Amino acid sequence: MQGLIPAAGGGTRLGPFTNAIPKELLPVGDKAVIEHVVEAMRLAGITDIVIVVSPHKHGLSDYLGSGRRFGVNLTYVVQDERKGLADAVLSGEHAIDGSFVVVLGDNFFRPKEFLKELISYHLNERADATLGVAEVGDVTRHGIIKPEGDRIAEIIEKPSIEEAPSILGSIGAYVFERFIFDAIRETKPGYNGELQLTDSVKVAIGLGRRVLYKKIDGIHIDVGTPADLMMANKWYMNNEGHR
Ligand code: UTP
Repeated sequence: MQGLIPAAGGGTRLGPFTNAIPKELLPVGDKAVIEHVVEAMRLAGITDIVIVVSPHKHGLSDYLGSGRRFGVNLTYVVQDERKGLADAVLSGEHAIDGSFVVVLGDNFFRPKEFLKELISYHLNERADATLGVAEVGDVTRHGIIKPEGDRIAEIIEKPSIEEAPSILGSIGAYVFERFIFDAIRETKPGYNGELQLTDSVKVAIGLGRRVLYKKIDGIHIDVGTPADLMMANKWYMNNEGHR
């Protein structure tokens, strides 16, 4: 199992900080948010990790380096144009050779062990794709699933409150088999004119693939705005600040 971390987005909601520094390098406690992701991957036994970077964004490899410091091997691939998350994942295709776990580079979650559980569940259930989900406060900010037994029957990116089929939202952690790259190629631009990974998952469901979900029993903060950044730091200081 390999890991893939998309970190090529514009981070406009965290401007003007992101004019100077990638949002994935903003600190949560004593580490950049992306370092928490790398750490969770290593804890799950993932040591071969692909980071998707943008040609317009600098500093990620200065901070992360080869990965040796974290006990992992990092490979950097470039997303040439910012066409959306699904396209960022597709940019890593040549560096991925089997099952892989994707965690967004601006994602902060606890317990860290959740990733290991997500991967074990995916492998034990012989799923084609498994999404980490949580009960979310604001459905309009997430990909919202319609659960049916252990499967995802439907998923909608950032629905209105009326459209939302549940309050279970994708938390930016996924396990995929390689077929997802074909599903991405079949994906049309969606919300915001971008290629949404949620829509590629929808394509996979339409093709009859076994797409499952696993609920995190903990916290998840997608560090996209100044308020999210403060919330993540507040949680960290209250719970792990002594470390
Ligand atoms: P977001 O949509 O939250 O990030 O993507 P963004 O586009 O950087 O943020 P705003 O809307 O401009 O404020 C979640 C993750 O996916 C990556 C981002 O870097 C982030 O880690 N991403 C997004 C890409 O790698 N490429 C893209 O084209 C879009």
